Amino acid sequence: MQKPRALVCGASEGIGRASAIALSQKGFAVSLLARSKPRLEELAATLPGATVIVADLDDRPALVKALENAVSHGPYYALVNNTGGPHGGPLLEASEEALLAAFSRNVLAGQILVRAVLPGMIAAGHGRIVNVLSTSLREPIANLGIGNTIRGAMAGWSKTLANELPPGITINNVLPGYTKTARLMELADLAATRTGKSRETVLSEWAKMAPEQRLAEPEEIANVIAFLCSPEASFIRGQSLAADGGRIRAI
Ligand SMILES: NC(=O)c1ccc[n+]([C@@H]2O[C@H](COP(=O)([O-])OP(=O)(O)OC[C@H]3O[C@@H](n4cnc5c(N)ncnc54)[C@H](OP(=O)(O)O)[C@@H]3O)[C@@H](O)[C@H]2O)c1
Repeated sequence: MQKPRALVCGASEGIGRASAIALSQKGFAVSLLARSKPRLEELAATLPGATVIVADLDDRPALVKALENAVSHGPYYALVNNTGGPHGGPLLEASEEALLAAFSRNVLAGQILVRAVLPGMIAAGHGRIVNVLSTSLREPIANLGIGNTIRGAMAGWSKTLANELPPGITINNVLPGYTKTARLMELADLAATRTGKSRETVLSEWAKMAPEQRLAEPEEIANVIAFLCSPEASFIRGQSLAADGGRIRAI
């Protein structure tokens, strides 16, 4: 029997990479999308049936073409809509161009991705779409102004689709807390420069913000994503699920 297919974006590193591994372990044939061909090929070589899509989510015409090719090989059961996080810094210092770029990389690329995989999901009568957002959707994080803004836009987009998509095709958001990835190290270095603290001090302060008192491993976020992509998650729709060690304090 043919394996169900999952398209995982931002699959060369961090949460996306861990999600691709988790989905492969659950029996999916994963298509790995990102810009870095060598990293994708190295990962694909370790995952049975995996394929590579070298594409830049910032280049919309090229993305459309790459996806046309990808869906010509069969429908996707699952889409993990994940990408690199926006630049850090206060919102008041963000340029209009940077805000537009973040909107394009997240909302516009998401729209292209959903439109590409949807006909196959509709024909098959089922599908799972999972967006990787952030706990900043619920509790904006200082000095992540663009990210805080774009998560709200993504949540509105996603909730609207949760109402529009046909039965059997679900869309949900995962909100990771502080997770040990290249992205987090970049943000920690930025915060260290701004505050004069060491990277280690910044990371340990972030870890202490959650009652679990530690940073997440990418696999802990990936397991939640893989669950929401599974047939078992069939009645979960339009939700934003935090995997944050308790960082969000609100009920
Ligand atoms: N880590 C955390 O603590 C944390 C917490 C909350 C939310 N998040 C969010 O979760 C998402 C993933 O974060 P992460 O920590 O896993 O990041 P990461 O380690 O930096 O990985 C980002 C992935 O996205 C890909 N990517 C970046 N820009 C791209 C583009 N223009 N086109 C295609 N692929 C692109 C990168 O691959 P290439 O460079 O090869 O393209 C890489 O595979 C981000 O939205 C981040 O803000 C992370």
